[in-house]
Formats: sequence, C-alpha cells, structure tokens
Amino acid sequence: MNEVIQTLLNRKSIRAYEERPISADVKNEILCATLRAPTAGNMMLHSIIDVTEQSLKDTLAQTCDDQSFIAQAPMVWLFLADYQRWYDYFRFSAVEKACRQREVAQRRPEEGDLFLACCDALIAAQTAVIAAESLGIGLCYIGDILEKYEIHRELFNLPDYVIG
Ligand SMILES: Cc1cc2nc3c(=O)[nH]c(=O)nc-3n(C[C@H](O)[C@H](O)[C@H](O)COP(=O)(O)O)c2cc1C
Repeated sequence: MNEVIQTLLNRKSIRAYEERPISADVKNEILCATLRAPTAGNMMLHSIIDVTEQSLKDTLAQTCDDQSFIAQAPMVWLFLADYQRWYDYFRFSAVEKACRQREVAQRRPEEGDLFLACCDALIAAQTAVIAAESLGIGLCYIGDILEKYEIHRELFNLPDYVIG
C-alpha cells in the first residue's frame, strides 16, 4: 500500500491538540499543496483566512456552537467561497460600462456561482486536510461556521460575495 492511501486510511478528526506551534514553513507547504487543488473553470473561487489572533479563535470557539477545542488549535484556517475577487475584477475591467454600451444587462453572481465557489472551497479544504495529515498534523472540520454566518461576516469583514 502506498503512503497516500495509508494517510487516507489513517485519517480521523482530531479535537485535542498539543501546545506546539505550526511553523510558517509547514503552513506554507500545506498552502502550496492546497493551491494545487482543481477549481471550476480554473477560477479559484475560494479564499483562505489564516486565523492567528487568539481573541478571534476564542470568539470562533463560542460562535461555532461552543466548541472550545477551536480556541486551543494552533492552526485555524477559514475556507471561504469567494466570488468577490472576480466581481471586483469585472468592475475594474469596466464590464458595467461595456454592458451599458451594448445594451445588455450585466450578470450578477447567482446561486450557481455560489455552488461552484462552495465546491472550490471544499475541495481546497480537503486538499489541505490531506496535506496536513501527510505531515502528521491532525485536524477537524468545523461546519458550524456557517450557522452564524452573519456574525462571522462581520468578524472577518467579509465582502458581499464571500461566504465562510
Ligand atoms: C463539512 C463538515 C463539517 C463538520 N463539522 C464539525 C464540527 O463542527 N465539529 C466537529 O467536532 N466535527 C465536525 N466535523 C467532523 C465530523 O464529525 C467527522 O468527520 C465525522 O464524524 C467522521 O469522523 P472522522 O472524521 O474521525 O472519520 C465535520 C465534518 C465535515 C466534513
């Protein structure tokens, strides 16, 4: 059996962590692997926030359904479905003006775009999970981030077309 399959077979959610920081080099290694994940139309409709401030981790531990182990995690990454970058790019590229000139309505991000962005974010997240596992770092998804998403939008100052 090869090492990748072994890593996949051994993976399990880890909710208690050693008090050991994860170095910038290791984080960067995980990030580089994560950014190799496939994305819809190669649009990379996701962003990642590396939450390093302890006060933010403490807040997340409460707002994500009182899961205190979040505050103890040396590494907390937020995976965001992000259509804002492209929307901003369209705006900076004067798409609105071009649409007016051609008398066509400018298309706004729709539900389908959100689904694609969620797919990109999830695939990136799972790629990060495998990369971290392969380096001996156990972790756990926190789906409850979505439940109080308006609070998290404010906490991380997320723009309109980004969802965490
Ligand atoms: C989208 C998603 C959201 C999850 N959210 C939470 C969570 O908020 N808290 C938690 O303790 N585990 C969470 N988990 C972990 C699951 O509970 C866990 O993967 C499942 O019970 C299977 O256990 P295993 O990962 O050890 O194989 C989540 C997993 C996924 C995929």
